[in-house]
Amino acid sequence: MFQTFLADVVNIDELISHGLAGRLNLLLSGPPGTGKTLIAGHIAAQLNRPLYVVRLDSVISSLLGDTAKNLRHIFDFVPKKNAILFLDEVDAVAKLRDDRHELGELKRVVNTLIQGLDSLDDHAVVIAATNHSGLLDPAIWRRFPYKINSHTPDFEMRENLWSHFLFLDNVEKNTTKLLAKLSEGLSGADIESISIATRRKCVLSKSEINLGSVISAVIASTLGNTATPTNGELSTIEKKSISCLLHREHNITQVDLAKILNTSRQTISSYLKE
Ligand SMILES: Nc1ncnc2c1ncn2[C@@H]1O[C@H](COP(=O)(O)OP(=O)(O)OP(=O)(O)O)[C@@H](O)[C@H]1O
Ligand SMILES: [Mg+2]
Repeated sequence: MFQTFLADVVNIDELISHGLAGRLNLLLSGPPGTGKTLIAGHIAAQLNRPLYVVRLDSVISSLLGDTAKNLRHIFDFVPKKNAILFLDEVDAVAKLRDDRHELGELKRVVNTLIQGLDSLDDHAVVIAATNHSGLLDPAIWRRFPYKINSHTPDFEMRENLWSHFLFLDNVEKNTTKLLAKLSEGLSGADIESISIATRRKCVLSKSEINLGSVISAVIASTLGNTATPTNGELSTIEKKSISCLLHREHNITQVDLAKILNTSRQTISSYLKE
């Protein structure tokens, strides 16, 4: 879909000459941190056009009535710049449905958005991103013929992300495989943020990556806790619980655990007996 969209944008004049032009509107949907904003930036770079990012949640004004005016300005302004319009958090419009606002205000904003989209000429490119495509007004949904769903990364992608962000692609496969296994359900952004935080700690404390501490942050993160890797020695309690989890649920051998946690095999063995 990504390539199709790019090809259609690049060849829009030919499509127009055959009467085949349609709206060049792309909807990106998927959970937070799965690369939607990244894709929008990538598309703009590929097309060599500026990207104007509009965060709809901030356009939606607390002053009733101003939102529609703000939106109209955007649709007047962006096409003049040959820019790509990126409507981020487009589901913010749908959130107007909560009882804080009147239904009349919601309708007005949706209508302005639709009129804005319809006012653009065939060369205009609009990308919208949402975490909750289900919340979108069907009339808006229909105006985006191109759709890409982003997902949390699969095993192979997680391996690549760990390798890239944490180890700068200089590491054994076994290590990235283990991290990929443990980080199921995390987003690309989660993996990036644990990696960068770890590398910062390494630089500032002039130490090597402490894999045990990364694993501890990954496990905390998959459990929904905010995790800041310390890259310091783990406490005995942490080492025990990591040993038990990795040994029982992921069949990691005692020898490997000793390496990961920087301790002796005898110590690991005693952790597992307890
Ligand atoms: N599949 C991926 N490949 C490479 N990097 C990724 C991937 N997914 C996420 N990232 C990293 O995570 C960061 C955050 O992703 P991005 O901001 O694009 O997510 P998003 O889907 O727009 O999230 P949100 O819904 O919260 O706005 C990116 O800058 C990128 O570095
Ligand atoms: Mg985003």
